[in-house]
Amino acid sequence: MEWKPEQIRLAVAQQLKTDSLLGIQDVPMHIEAPSMSRATAAQPAADPLEDSGRTEQLQILNRTSVVGCTKCGLASTRTQTVFGQGSSAPRLVFVGEAPGYEEDKKGLAFVGKAGQKLTDMIVAMGLTREDVFICNVLKCRPPNNRDPSAEEILACRPYLQQQLQILQPEVVVALGAPAAKTLLNTAQGIGKLRGRFHDLYLSGTEGVGPSIPAMPTYHPAYLLRNPAEKRKAWDDLQMVMALLGLERPG
Ligand code: URA
Repeated sequence: MEWKPEQIRLAVAQQLKTDSLLGIQDVPMHIEAPSMSRATAAQPAADPLEDSGRTEQLQILNRTSVVGCTKCGLASTRTQTVFGQGSSAPRLVFVGEAPGYEEDKKGLAFVGKAGQKLTDMIVAMGLTREDVFICNVLKCRPPNNRDPSAEEILACRPYLQQQLQILQPEVVVALGAPAAKTLLNTAQGIGKLRGRFHDLYLSGTEGVGPSIPAMPTYHPAYLLRNPAEKRKAWDDLQMVMALLGLERPG
């Protein structure tokens, strides 16, 4: 059966509402969505109803599953969860690693120094932060900004998959190795992965269901420490711009 994007979104909303009514906190790994059409997702948010439907689904996901999540030990060390923010009908989604100190305090993704760098990258692409959606693999800050553990990533990954299933972006930029490895199910390093598009399967399983292109690139925090690598990151972002048909601002 050919599913229309609106039907998929309604099914997701229904599932989340049912889960909420049943008191189920876990987010399903995959909701059957056989024909998410990239061509349709490519349309800008012209229909405010469609947009508000996604906003509602994101809110339901956040309120019923993420805010009170206790699936890993970070629940006891976080100040609050950081769901992510931006357009609910974005053409482009940026996925980072995990909230840091500032993000944990404010409840928003990428609002510290790395966030400023990410803003610069977005503006260089001719976009604003409001045009895109920005989130992380982990929704909670690891203490002292240590690397996320494999268990934490496994526990949190369904939330990211659910976000992407609702948002239906045309392209995802994975910022840094943890995001790229999580989204692409690979152990390869960021240096090997960056510079070309990869298929990101929304189901989380290679070859199953629809996929969208993902561009791995360097994390903004890495670029702050290694400015010589900015050229490569810019090359990656220009490939994303070409895919989206974006002009470099004059
Ligand atoms: N680094 C990340 O990966 N995400 C943030 O939100 C902030 C810093």
